[in-house]
Amino acid sequence: MCGIVGYAGHEPAAPFLLEGLQRLEYRGYDSAGIAVFSDKVRTVKSKGRLADLRAKVDAAGGVPGCLGIGHTRWATHGAPNDINSHPHTSMSGHITVVHNGIIENYIPLKEELEAQGVVFRSETDTEVVAQLFDKLYNGDLVGTLIEVIGRIRGSYALGILCTDYPDTLLAVRKDSPMIVGLGEHENYIASDIPAVLDHTRSYYLLNDNEIAVIKAESVELLDLNRQPISHEVFTVNYDISAAEKGGYDYFMMKEIKEQPNALRTCIGSRIHDNEIRLDKLRLTDEQIKNIGRIHIVACGSAWHAGIVGKYVIEELTRIPVEVDLASEFRYRRPILARNDLCIAISQSGETADTLAALREARANDVHVLSIVNAVGSSIARESDDVLYTMAGPEIAVATTKGYTTQLAVLYLIALKFGKIRGILSDAEESRLRTALEALPDQLEQLFADEAALEALARQHAEKDHVFVIGRGIDYGASLESSLKLKEISYIHSEAYAAGELKHGTISLIEEGTLVIAVATQEALYEKLISNVKEVKARGAYVVAIVKEGSRDVEGVADQVFYIPDTADIFTSTLTVVPMQIFAYYTAIARGCDVDKPRNLAKSVTVE
Ligand code: G6P
Repeated sequence: MCGIVGYAGHEPAAPFLLEGLQRLEYRGYDSAGIAVFSDKVRTVKSKGRLADLRAKVDAAGGVPGCLGIGHTRWATHGAPNDINSHPHTSMSGHITVVHNGIIENYIPLKEELEAQGVVFRSETDTEVVAQLFDKLYNGDLVGTLIEVIGRIRGSYALGILCTDYPDTLLAVRKDSPMIVGLGEHENYIASDIPAVLDHTRSYYLLNDNEIAVIKAESVELLDLNRQPISHEVFTVNYDISAAEKGGYDYFMMKEIKEQPNALRTCIGSRIHDNEIRLDKLRLTDEQIKNIGRIHIVACGSAWHAGIVGKYVIEELTRIPVEVDLASEFRYRRPILARNDLCIAISQSGETADTLAALREARANDVHVLSIVNAVGSSIARESDDVLYTMAGPEIAVATTKGYTTQLAVLYLIALKFGKIRGILSDAEESRLRTALEALPDQLEQLFADEAALEALARQHAEKDHVFVIGRGIDYGASLESSLKLKEISYIHSEAYAAGELKHGTISLIEEGTLVIAVATQEALYEKLISNVKEVKARGAYVVAIVKEGSRDVEGVADQVFYIPDTADIFTSTLTVVPMQIFAYYTAIARGCDVDKPRNLAKSVTVE
């Protein structure tokens, strides 16, 4: 979603801001802008891509100054146009603001300000912050910000310039990420680490209601009582190349290919001396033995990981698992018991609904264990325990390595809990642990099918509808496979539990309809083959994804892709990969922007 970057230093700010915004492009946006302060604040904004903004900056002969803020906007209040894009400046020109999040009470505030003669230019909630700040401003920058915070409701990460302070950048956050980057004779703000990663690896991660006063030579952190706060410096150990394309045309393919290594790190770092060690969990063995129910909360692909996780955790631990869309969980008054466990899954760690769902769980005294990729993100910090997926930065909007590493952490949890609860024998645990450790190499073998999948994609690129069917865990994986295709190729795709076909979907099958059948579950295999025959009989073109050595499938399906043999409960990690590659090449064949699909955002920080 929206992205923020800011600079206070001695070098020209505009090139820094434009470069930082480029690194945030992956979050999804529909307009962008920068404001730079020298003798006055000059703002350049543009609807559309950053290239459009760059062209405007160049046409203006650059924007002079060494203090500035920039923003990529993903429209929520008001159309994506030049006027509504950020930064927004108050009527007097004193205060300029960039904002991520939503000011929930902006309408009454706007009415109040209008009654006092303030004229608004945009339709945004953000402009209210600039105008309110200006109205309340009494020469005391921090004091006014504290007053503003007392008046606004909602979520915000704010970057603020004031013409009375030519060397100062002000930042604050609540329920929306904001970091302060620490440089040499310059300092930065950003909504996301990759924006400034090639300038520094040292950061302060702001918590809610913490204010940062940033100058070229200093960073001061204050609480709402103006008391100084000391923060540990947070250091990242990946460099910018990990967040760049590295020779691939698109981040998505790079990230697909990074999956074996991501899984090796995620799984390998947690198995020592034939034992799974789940980092330093606060959750004790005694608590694990007493868990009554697990509530998994997540959105999008992370929710799909949760659905597969339910099958695996229930199978290995016999703990009942409910999987909720976070946006539903937070408002449905869930029934929670103190000995329940909530597992929140999120790649970005910033998804607003997932954050709200975990808060709901914690407010009910339920222990929250989160599975997160982005280190130091809000979800990670607000959880009782966190298991990082260690996938490295994921840039493409459509998640790949984020999802498969989430599955890996869920498998580790299931094995560990199953052992602690005495459901898994030592022998069974050892067999499954060995299978788990083999997954990264097995996933790598699947890349051998890339050319065949590309050809398949070209063959079916003009299809209007695709169905992905499976039973049990294969149904869970089908949901993710289907989403990949629809997200980036814009082909209508639906995942169906194969047993449900006869209750509706089968009426949509006609001559040439593409049906992908995932059939890796031994106990359900025959039934799935029968479902394949049913759709074949109605003219479908069937592509089957099965385990090596599967019987009778060649004669039934039109084309077959094989995954290496693994335990039935772990197959989703492998079956999804051919579908990631198929979706990727289908999007290419249809001329779609693979990494930045229309209307979607990588990190959804509003509900
Ligand atoms: C967005 C992304 C999806 C992602 C979902 C949840 O919709 O486009 O790829 O699965 O958010 O994001 P999270 O960061 O919480 O995993």
